[in-house]
Amino acid sequence: MCGIVGYVGERRADRVLLNGLRKLEYRGYDSAGIATLVDGEIQIRRAVGKLDNLEEALGDVGLVGGIGIGHTRWATHGRPSEQNAHPHRSGDVVLIHNGIIENYVELREELAGDGYEIISETDTEVISHLIHRQLERGEPGGLFEATRAVLSLLTGSYAMVVMTSREPGVLVTAKNSTPVVLGVGDGESFIASDIPALLEYTRDVLFLEDGELARIEGGKIEVTTFDGTPVDREPRRVSWDPVTAQKGGYKHFLLKEIHEQPQAIIDTMRGRVAQDTADVVLPELDALGDRLGGIEKMCIVACGTAWHSALVGKFIMERFARMPTEVDYGSEFRYRDPLVDEKTLLIVVSQSGETADTLAALEAAQKRGAPVLAICNVVDSSIARKADAVLYTHAGPEISVASTKAFTTQLTALYLLGLHLGRRTGKIDKDLEAECIQAIVEIPRLVEQILQDTEEAIAKDSRLFSQTDDFLYLGRGINYPIALEGALKLKEISYIHAEGYPAGEMKHGPIALIDEFMPVVVLIPRDEVYGKTLSNLKEVESRGGRIIAITDGADDELRSIAESVIEIPQTSTSLMPLLLAIPLQLLAYYVAVERGTDVDQPRNLAKSVTVE
Ligand code: M6R
Repeated sequence: MCGIVGYVGERRADRVLLNGLRKLEYRGYDSAGIATLVDGEIQIRRAVGKLDNLEEALGDVGLVGGIGIGHTRWATHGRPSEQNAHPHRSGDVVLIHNGIIENYVELREELAGDGYEIISETDTEVISHLIHRQLERGEPGGLFEATRAVLSLLTGSYAMVVMTSREPGVLVTAKNSTPVVLGVGDGESFIASDIPALLEYTRDVLFLEDGELARIEGGKIEVTTFDGTPVDREPRRVSWDPVTAQKGGYKHFLLKEIHEQPQAIIDTMRGRVAQDTADVVLPELDALGDRLGGIEKMCIVACGTAWHSALVGKFIMERFARMPTEVDYGSEFRYRDPLVDEKTLLIVVSQSGETADTLAALEAAQKRGAPVLAICNVVDSSIARKADAVLYTHAGPEISVASTKAFTTQLTALYLLGLHLGRRTGKIDKDLEAECIQAIVEIPRLVEQILQDTEEAIAKDSRLFSQTDDFLYLGRGINYPIALEGALKLKEISYIHAEGYPAGEMKHGPIALIDEFMPVVVLIPRDEVYGKTLSNLKEVESRGGRIIAITDGADDELRSIAESVIEIPQTSTSLMPLLLAIPLQLLAYYVAVERGTDVDQPRNLAKSVTVE
């Protein structure tokens, strides 16, 4: 969380920094700030709240200068205030940081003893003082060596950039557990937390690894490890297109990303489904070598929306590959002394590839000898680099904090994996395999059809339900995780309390909540439990609940009890989650719009959670 940017070159740094921060605002928006060097003097502007407030504070004049750093904050230590906003300054040193310094209390005491006055409540401020102290002690290696020396005093996670007026053309950046990507330009360089902040200027990027720092001067980038060993790394060219990272005529990124799903699913399937041989080809798994052959069970670990993909993944793996599969939260996995070993395939699912809890689970599993496969969207992210093999989703940049296209492409990747493993182990039912291979290539067209056919009606429905306080989402079997995801989407962007339940569980408790004010969204495809779910709905109806049904074939009975019926096309019952997710995303979106919330940047959230 928190976005960091840095620039050194011939352009006006303040403009590059603001531009970059706009692309990173999804990482946090409690406050923002920039610092540049103007005529050898450090100039800082900071403002509480969104970037617009910072832009206002900068006015028309801005902060001139060709070198600077910028930050958008998701508060951890210290409330959102100007005092706690980054950059933090210590004399002629100024610094931005993403992460958590765990030993900041001891460091504060030590610095106070040395006469430093700590102004903010943050864990970050100490780093700027420590670097300043090191320079004051006459560090001969300048800012770079002063920073390197200070890193050995820090415990915790950090992506930081530091600048001093003592060395006017130099930025130093360091990484431990949170991302830093460097953009390589012609006579200029860029630093950011994530690729979209760089795309307007360059597609040649260089990722820092944990335990590395870099000295940047104009277009010259020198990387070393924390122990001073030089690192020789060539930049990589990223294929993401800068236009994809913009709204392109849509009111919100979220709506644009919902509409990008047909293409994102096509991109995720491209080259992987061989329809002629009815096979799924995943050469990425070769990186696991012989280890895949010895697998006896699977464990899928993720957080948030990706955890919902993982829950669908359990059904997929057990149905297609007939392999016992557990699912766990990234934040829980390592604390339960998990029973994983070299015979367990650990699958981590993450859009950003930077979620700290998921990353920690990956490392815990690797320590136990488990091979790790990542399903990830961001190329070369920390999770992608640490996993033994990576199956990339090709959703493109997902900017809106609430995940949509990342979710459906994760599901797509899990289906492909399940089908591939089912064939490889010889355990998949041949009819099921043929049905699913045939059906999966049709999914993008069906998603497009749902978007065209249902959006208007859902927007209308959302007006009927937008002022209620609670929602219940019901689903069964493989569609139950979609009920959870629908509830999460609504909570995140409309701030309405919502819960997802397996439809058959409702009678064991949540039924007590049902009254005439309670909308109940039910996922009721024409599968083997259609009749049973219908009975559950009768229980809702007889207590006055308001039913919104999403189905691929309503009968008269369903029509007679539901206030609204949203019809979607048919597909294989195994692939239904991919279609059912779409109306729920639209419903959450339009309810949020109706309530006037900040759809793309909902309160208190951040896109990638790089702290535990
Ligand atoms: O980047 P990741 O997929 O690892 O992120 C996991 C969650 O933080 C993320 O899915 C979160 O729940 C989103 N806000 C969901 O919309």
